[in-house]
Amino acid sequence: MFSSKYTNRLFGRTRGRSKKKNNLENYYKALDRYKFKKFNEKLEYILDIGTGYGETSVFLAKKFPEKVIISCEKYVDGNIILLKNIQKNSINNILLHNGNVYNILEITNKKFFRIVWIFFPDPWPKNKHAKRRLITSEFLIKLHKFLKENCEIYIATDSTIYVRFILNSIYKCKDYFLWVNQSEINLSIKDYFDIETKYYKKAINSQRKPSLFILRKL
Ligand SMILES: C[S@@+](CC[C@H](N)C(=O)[O-])C[C@H]1O[C@@H](n2cnc3c(N)ncnc32)[C@H](O)[C@@H]1O
Repeated sequence: MFSSKYTNRLFGRTRGRSKKKNNLENYYKALDRYKFKKFNEKLEYILDIGTGYGETSVFLAKKFPEKVIISCEKYVDGNIILLKNIQKNSINNILLHNGNVYNILEITNKKFFRIVWIFFPDPWPKNKHAKRRLITSEFLIKLHKFLKENCEIYIATDSTIYVRFILNSIYKCKDYFLWVNQSEINLSIKDYFDIETKYYKKAINSQRKPSLFILRKL
């Protein structure tokens, strides 16, 4: 079902560096139970892209119990933690896609998403890797056709290089999205949400200030 006709490759790690490897047999068993398979027309979805250890998906599942969160992440060790937290907290509205978000966008042409979260996408700071960045005007315009009316996209980053790149991408798709918080001098995440992901904490510990961009579908 998830064969990819898109060229978008996923870069970065699939497994952690720790020598103590998790048991993959148990992982695939648990994943099978919570795997995203297909859309249900009666439900509304939140797309959570690049979830790392899944903190955002758990946060969203609790904040929006009536919606289904699709957590997209290929990092297996992160998904293992997310699956443990789903079970520990008896969460029943998270489904995982162990792979590229593009696979999800391939299987429908309908508007299923009420909210999209992209927290700390890999910044790929070197110029020679810029093509690997997820947030581009092309990607935002592609997403647009899967979004319900007034759907909001939340993008967080602590990379000044990526901030400039995202601003440029937002400008290029100004006919598709309103940049809701553009008049705020301070684009702070904590003004909106009480959530700390691994990469949020990393940014704060290194004295980098994360910014939050909120876009609304036009
Ligand atoms: C820097 S980490 C951020 C993790 C988490 N959101 C956080 O705030 O701690 C970015 C994650 O995005 C994932 N990722 C990158 N491109 C993706 C894509 N096209 N589809 C799904 N996940 C992707 C990577 O595997 C990586 O784990």
